[in-house]
Amino acid sequence: MINTETILVTGGAGFIGANFIHFALKNRPNWQIVNLDLLTYAGNLISLATLPVEHRSRHTFVHGDIRNTDLLARLFQQHAFAGVIHFAAESHVDRSIRGPQVFVDTNVGGTCTLLQASLDAWQERGRPADFRFHHVSTDEVYGSLGLTGAFTEQSPYDPSSPYSASKAASDHFVRAYGRTYDLPFVITNCSNNFGPYQFPEKLIPLMICNILAEKPLPVYGNGENIRDWLYVLDHCSALLRVFEKGTAGQTYNIGGGTEQSNIDIVRQLCKIMDKKLGRTAGASESLIAFVTDRPGHDFRYAIDAAKIKEELDWQPQYSFAEALRNTVDWYLANMAWVDSVRSGTYRQWLELNYDKR
Ligand code: NAD
Ligand code: DAU
Repeated sequence: MINTETILVTGGAGFIGANFIHFALKNRPNWQIVNLDLLTYAGNLISLATLPVEHRSRHTFVHGDIRNTDLLARLFQQHAFAGVIHFAAESHVDRSIRGPQVFVDTNVGGTCTLLQASLDAWQERGRPADFRFHHVSTDEVYGSLGLTGAFTEQSPYDPSSPYSASKAASDHFVRAYGRTYDLPFVITNCSNNFGPYQFPEKLIPLMICNILAEKPLPVYGNGENIRDWLYVLDHCSALLRVFEKGTAGQTYNIGGGTEQSNIDIVRQLCKIMDKKLGRTAGASESLIAFVTDRPGHDFRYAIDAAKIKEELDWQPQYSFAEALRNTVDWYLANMAWVDSVRSGTYRQWLELNYDKR
């Protein structure tokens, strides 16, 4: 007899959430996942339609909002969740610059509503010490680095965008619920992810789609900004490790140690895709267009992942080059997925963000 555990995952129809659900159902045969997602423009059930048949009965989808107190109370009454893994958020920096309010509402307000529902249920159930509220957060809370150094768990918070400010605020609320009410939490702050099912507004999938369609490749500023990239499946293995083995009340930084400038990434994608598509070498690079920079654009992110490596024995498994090729292959084989997530609202977003840059 295996001991079943039911986990509440929020935002499981988004990029990282969907990858995590695939990963967790495969690697944890005793897990039942209840997936609460509002299906905003960024959430698509089609990303879960590919779950193997034998895993589907352990996944229950609930269409709803993390800001809905009554719905959360009902879910916590129906299930004695062993923990909550909280992905649901507005996640795109450029959108937060165009319209910050929904970032405050969902990322701050929604996280607080979810924290309160978790706390109420945890107290009613006699405060089980092994319960975990896992907040999936970002390295952007630490602000921007110069050419040297890396973010540690002790780095001061210094967010630049409305998105990162909202994630910083939600991290603070999670810690406050820990300190004030003893709710057992863990926080992970991760660097830039890439891989299958990422909405094509983010750098890597946007560039893959534009290269394929021979459209301009909009690089912000001079393209020298640096990000620390991590393949999404490596993020998933780190999340599972922290959720199961992390110490309550602790924060863990997660990163791949692969720093790349934006322009280097775009050039690598051009090379890979010219080869795969049988185009003349250099053909796609001619599509690169340097456009007006993002306001408040953080120059560099880099993660010092020593704590999760040393305390929890986690290591990324994928090399950046291999993972980038996998990602290109996935998009080329799944253009039907891309087409189905690109709604009319997506086209309006492209006009709003890129037309006057
Ligand atoms: P995403 O935008 O692809 O997905 C977000 C999901 O949340 C969507 O399925 C959406 O429908 C859902 N959602 C939004 N508002 C909701 C609400 N009010 N109620 C319920 N569901 C709602 O985001 P992602 O890239 O998968 O990121 C997931 C989490 O990881 C976010 O919290 C983000 O801040 C964090 N994160 C992302 C990265 C990255 O590189 N993408 C890196 C570090 C941390
Ligand atoms: O660091 C973790 C964060 O990474 C996550 O918390 C966010 O949810 C996630 O969106 C991501 O934020 P970024 O702003 O770093 O990712 P994005 O893909 O939007 O941009 C990556 C870099 O590429 C950034 O320096 C801006 C640049 N860029 C982006 C787009 C969309 C361009 O030059 N052109 C573009 O069209």
